[in-house]
Amino acid sequence: MHPLTAALLDWYDRCARDLPWRGFHDAYRTWVSEAMLQQTRVETVLSYYDRFLSRFPTLPALAEAPEADVLKAWEGLGYYSRARNLHNGAMDVMEQYGGVLPRDPEKLKKIRGIGPYTAGAIASIAYDVPVPAVDGNVIRVLSRIYGIRTDALQPDTRKHIEELAAALVPEERPGDHNQAVMDLGATVCVPGTPDCAVCPLSAFCDACKAGDASDLPVLPKAKPQ
Ligand code: ADE
Repeated sequence: MHPLTAALLDWYDRCARDLPWRGFHDAYRTWVSEAMLQQTRVETVLSYYDRFLSRFPTLPALAEAPEADVLKAWEGLGYYSRARNLHNGAMDVMEQYGGVLPRDPEKLKKIRGIGPYTAGAIASIAYDVPVPAVDGNVIRVLSRIYGIRTDALQPDTRKHIEELAAALVPEERPGDHNQAVMDLGATVCVPGTPDCAVCPLSAFCDACKAGDASDLPVLPKAKPQ
């Protein structure tokens, strides 16, 4: 295991947020949480997640439900295409996989509503497959650690970040590792000014040494309207 990953997992064991979608190895639950978390803050998701799962406790229950019921349970979370995709994807899984989400990220990516990030999250968190799940948090954390000072959304840079992310994922506890990066990005290595003084990875971090963590990742300037 990379020493950075060991330090990160040690931090996670002490500081992980206690969130209701953790502590299970259930791909459906992971999928629901990741779909909700993609454009919505953790604090908001907390008041929807358990209610959604009591209403649709299993993937077949979700697939069989009328779309109007699914949208109703999603009401308030916004970005309703996520709910429609989740519902359509559940029907795909019923038809193609007998109601059980596959563990292969390539197969997961072909299901409606599952992109590369969600495929990596489901495979690693629910099935312990050692693959990364690269979202905005991961881009920020890795840009700082590796001192990536080119536009993080350019395809070459993005690919480089994905390779670095893949190289860090351990064979053991890949889901915890990925969620540790998310927690670090949400609580310590935050956008703007990170709290490098308490960061378990500061000894490994190029931007911390260079003093420019607040400037990373480099993102394209928003075009004037
Ligand atoms: N954001 C996206 N996925 C998450 C997860 N599994 N835990 C915490 N924050 C997240």
